[in-house]
Amino acid sequence: MTQGSLLRQILEYENRHDPYPLYAELRKTPVLNEDDGAYVVSTYDEVLTLLHDPRVSSDSRNMTQPAGIDLQDQQQDEETTLPPSFIRLDPPEHDRLRRLTNTSFGPPHEPHRVHEMRGELGGIVSDLIGGIGGTDRIDLVEQFSYPFPVTVICRLLGVPREDESRFHGWADTLAASLDPMPGQDPTERDRRTQKARTELGMYLAGLIEERRKKPQKDMLSELATLKGPDGSLSTMELLSTAALLLVAGHETTVNLITNGMLTLLRNPQVLERLRTDPNLSVPLVEELLRFEPPVQLVPNRTTLADIEIAGVTIPKGASLWLVVAAGNRDPLRFEDPDRFDPDRQDNRHLGFGSGVHSCFGAPLARLEAQIALSELARRLVNPRLLEDPPEYRQNAVLRGPRHLPVACDDIRP
Ligand code: HEM
Repeated sequence: MTQGSLLRQILEYENRHDPYPLYAELRKTPVLNEDDGAYVVSTYDEVLTLLHDPRVSSDSRNMTQPAGIDLQDQQQDEETTLPPSFIRLDPPEHDRLRRLTNTSFGPPHEPHRVHEMRGELGGIVSDLIGGIGGTDRIDLVEQFSYPFPVTVICRLLGVPREDESRFHGWADTLAASLDPMPGQDPTERDRRTQKARTELGMYLAGLIEERRKKPQKDMLSELATLKGPDGSLSTMELLSTAALLLVAGHETTVNLITNGMLTLLRNPQVLERLRTDPNLSVPLVEELLRFEPPVQLVPNRTTLADIEIAGVTIPKGASLWLVVAAGNRDPLRFEDPDRFDPDRQDNRHLGFGSGVHSCFGAPLARLEAQIALSELARRLVNPRLLEDPPEYRQNAVLRGPRHLPVACDDIRP
């Protein structure tokens, strides 16, 4: 195996079910210069250092090499003339938009927002499990982990219930557009993505207009009417922020829950502990974010200056791929890293990234996964995997099963 071909092998579908041996190979060269000039970084300390380095830019306007993909496709934004969302901006523009958005999401302005969703999240989970029906073959992705996060983001933003199904359709299309190797006609996919973005933009613009006239107790109303030391969000900024929240929080959370059930079903003694002790879900979700992170790598960063790291000089203008999933299994940082251990102490994983772009939605994602997994463990009687490994989605960046067929004996009330 040549070092230069490792990234290509990681992107190849046949390795999707288990990329971890390739990551171990990759870590032998902590900062690897690919044939196309990109730098792939895979060891914990180096990934963490670069995620915090202000000379590493997330702004696609600084890119000198062709784009890969990221949590939100910048190219699409420009085509629909939406301004870049804050995931694709550097400080100080990034910080202003993130601070403004946070005033309606978390402390100090809204310290209870996520916590107060607990009851509602439990209700959505309960309805989805209650609606599963037959127990001979359940597709946990389609019947549970896929619909859950998009319903949650609709409630958070304040999308009326009767419109939620339209939102599901747009979220599906936009999530599919993030796949770097789509395996279908790319022109047709681009056309559908473009149509979904335009429709979503028009729908949100109408909703924002309504909320400005008649604010309610939801995030869109607060963001549409807020005024403070950072000014306010323009309609275009609000549109790209709402689209970012929808896309960044959707497939990632789907994969955390699905990877979580897969890992639990492979570790039945942990599943049984969770069934009787829902508090285990808190450290368990952290260990999942380390062991099977839904975002495997952060692509499309650009160096704004020469950077010396691990004995290598990464030149100014280089494109960086930061492989957080490889850092999470680095034996220099984590003891016995290939063991799934929810009792692990000192688990500062990179599952939510780190630095200025660290996941904005982490408190919500954690709560969603904790409730989902503890309820599935409690209610499914004697659950078992019908396919192992299951079929994965094509995407190597947002990695997770496309379907997760399981059977169980019964569903507890
Ligand atoms: C398990 C679920 C999730 C995972 C694994 C995850 C992971 C990540 C990661 C790794 C980043 C950093 C990307 C980078 O450095 O470029 C990120 C950023 C972000 N995430 Fe999440 N995410 C999850 C759920 C969510 C949810 C539910 C939301 C929204 C409510 C959300 C909103 C965002 C936003 C807005 C950013 C950009 C932050 C910034 O640029 O300052 N994420 N996420």
